[in-house]
Amino acid sequence: MKITSIKYSNLLIGMAFVFAAYGKQPDGSIDQKVDQLLSQMTWEEKIGQLNQIASYGLNDDIAARIKNGAIGSILNEVDPKTINALQEIAVKDSRLSIPLIFARDVIHGFKTIFPVPLGQASSWNPLVVENGARVAAVEAASVGIRWTFAPMLDISRDHRWGRIVESLGEDPVLASRLGVAMVKGFQGDDLSQPTSVAACAKHYAGYGAAESGRDYNTAIISGEQLRNVYLPPFKAAVDAGCASVMVSFNEINGVPSSGNEYLVKQILRDEWRYDDIVVSDWHSIGELVPHGFARDLKHAAEIGINTTIDVDMENHAYLPFAAELLKEGKIKEAVINQAVRRVLKLKYELGLFDRPYIKTGNNVMYADAHLQKAKEAAVESAVLLKNENNLLPLSQKIRSIAVIGPMADAPHDQMGTWVFDGDKTHTVTPLAALFAEYGDKLKINYAQGLTFSRDMNRSKFSQAVEAARASDVILFFGGEEAILSGEAHCRADIGLPGAQRELLAELAQTGKPIVLVVMAGRAIEIYRELPWVKSYLFTFHPGTMGGAALTDLLFGKAVPSGKLPVTYPKMVGQSPIYYNHKNSGRPAGDDLQTIENIPLEAGQVSLGNTNYYLDAGQSPLFPFGFGLSYTTFEYSDLKLSTTTLDKSGKIEISCTVKNTGMRAGAEIVQLYVCDRVGTITRPVKELKDFDKIVLQPGEAKTVSFTLAADDLKFWNNHDEELLEEGDYSVWIAPNSTEGLESSFTYLHGK
Ligand code: BGC
Repeated sequence: MKITSIKYSNLLIGMAFVFAAYGKQPDGSIDQKVDQLLSQMTWEEKIGQLNQIASYGLNDDIAARIKNGAIGSILNEVDPKTINALQEIAVKDSRLSIPLIFARDVIHGFKTIFPVPLGQASSWNPLVVENGARVAAVEAASVGIRWTFAPMLDISRDHRWGRIVESLGEDPVLASRLGVAMVKGFQGDDLSQPTSVAACAKHYAGYGAAESGRDYNTAIISGEQLRNVYLPPFKAAVDAGCASVMVSFNEINGVPSSGNEYLVKQILRDEWRYDDIVVSDWHSIGELVPHGFARDLKHAAEIGINTTIDVDMENHAYLPFAAELLKEGKIKEAVINQAVRRVLKLKYELGLFDRPYIKTGNNVMYADAHLQKAKEAAVESAVLLKNENNLLPLSQKIRSIAVIGPMADAPHDQMGTWVFDGDKTHTVTPLAALFAEYGDKLKINYAQGLTFSRDMNRSKFSQAVEAARASDVILFFGGEEAILSGEAHCRADIGLPGAQRELLAELAQTGKPIVLVVMAGRAIEIYRELPWVKSYLFTFHPGTMGGAALTDLLFGKAVPSGKLPVTYPKMVGQSPIYYNHKNSGRPAGDDLQTIENIPLEAGQVSLGNTNYYLDAGQSPLFPFGFGLSYTTFEYSDLKLSTTTLDKSGKIEISCTVKNTGMRAGAEIVQLYVCDRVGTITRPVKELKDFDKIVLQPGEAKTVSFTLAADDLKFWNNHDEELLEEGDYSVWIAPNSTEGLESSFTYLHGK
């Protein structure tokens, strides 16, 4: 110990000499440096740091604004030469040489595109998500991007909402776990590493609860739902050190997030002690005016600043009005100082003061290792939802395949939404991968049938039918184009667009077995087409390596292991739909009277009077957590270490999971709990934990989870967190509707 400390102090002395030699002060802590810099800044320079603008390249106007210290960060510039040129003006020509941060929405990859986030969530594998973010960070940082606006942590329960695709699903525990993994992947171990990118937990909060699944729409969320469902992923990201948080566009219960002091000041800042950057969404402060929450842009700026939204993204509100607002006493200098501190702190943490420039020409894009990770992610993101007679994996006996459908060779669309930088010429489509892998072994009859997902033109149907007739099996690649999901791309009809249904119907007439592969940004309403197909593989938009991954899955070189991170509705009219709903006073049983069976002029009482739809019943098409494999798993021997839990205790809950099939495979084992009686009603089930295990044929493993009293806590509608005595059901399960069930009692104890 002693020796180490001597060495360390020698090192410090040595460093002091080095600094002295270069005429620099020995560095203090980041906080000290920030305070020192802040003390030298003019009011205009301070507000400038809070100003984030979209890039328009380099021109005289931008150069002058940077020189005057009127810009703190720039969004959407990705050309490294322009980035360096802009940075040089900030560093060399501005009075205090404060570097800029360059930001970009790097959502599921920069150049190498990974499956869309909802797809990655189907892997239930934090490592897949972390790897995806790491690759994205390495590529984005190589051009100078050091701040991304991800992970998107909006709990999403409605497939009409276009942004469900960007989410990590409907469950707070799953989204928290994967969100933290994404933060870790982007930020690495240390933000100052040149490949680290600051993450941003967005959109705080409740954006996924947009009424009717229509983007930007009003959200009405009770206090308990907000705290129990929508906020946990943000809390997890904050606890994991996420460098920034973005407020959402929507209002909750009448208060837009950009002016929501309860959300930002009370919960985020005071309760969670979050002292890093809060950024507005694009013009979300300006939108307080159309929301009817601010009179004009100046009033909006006042609200935004007082809500402690530090960075003004494209509102153009702080810069013109902050000085007047200060003079009028409507905002306080201390609030601005704190906001500037947060921005400067991030710049120091990212090492931008020491290394403001990016080395150009070091090309890491589409590195083999990145493509490999993207392929692994696409394999783990695919969810097998139907597989009659084990049609998949395709048998060795198959001699010919028909490759049909608008997504079979759609290099742009298979990348999905929020792709600004991915280049479609690098995309491996299913068609390309099938030819590359099997072109010399099988007869591949390719006939697209429809040229894009919305195509209504049936003129190529006959070629597709001919190809089908000439083949042993039909691989139909359908779904929706990338542009049909994502921000502002909501759909009221979530069925297969264009004439895909009609094409499938004609193909079904041939009697050839059909494998339906759907690439989409949301669950596609498919219950009417499902009987026509033997296998249904749902892949979301699988990204650059989607085709290679799918080929491996179809032919059994890889085994599907994804499970749904969202409930898959039968009909769109069931939306919003989610597994952790409340029971209601009249839960539906199995004896449903359906629309076909209602007798003419039936009396009111004959209709069951329970909580279901006459035409869709009560269950989804596929439940949350569901997904098939090429092998089968058997759950047995559920054990609880105790059946009574107290405040300081823990319960070990375990069971045996056995691979009862002929192939190795991975299984996502899920732990659910139901608090049977509460002072507010509790969900029918809540996911508490999960584990993904790999089992060889015949192999069995004990999977065990630990539950502590804290895991049973929940919030009521009065901002109180409760832990209530009573009986709890518990399941270890392959999905949210099956599994082995037991129970325990919680008593506070001593
Ligand atoms: C989106 C954000 C995004 C921002 C910047 C907004 O329209 O809601 O998710 O980060 O634009 O591009």
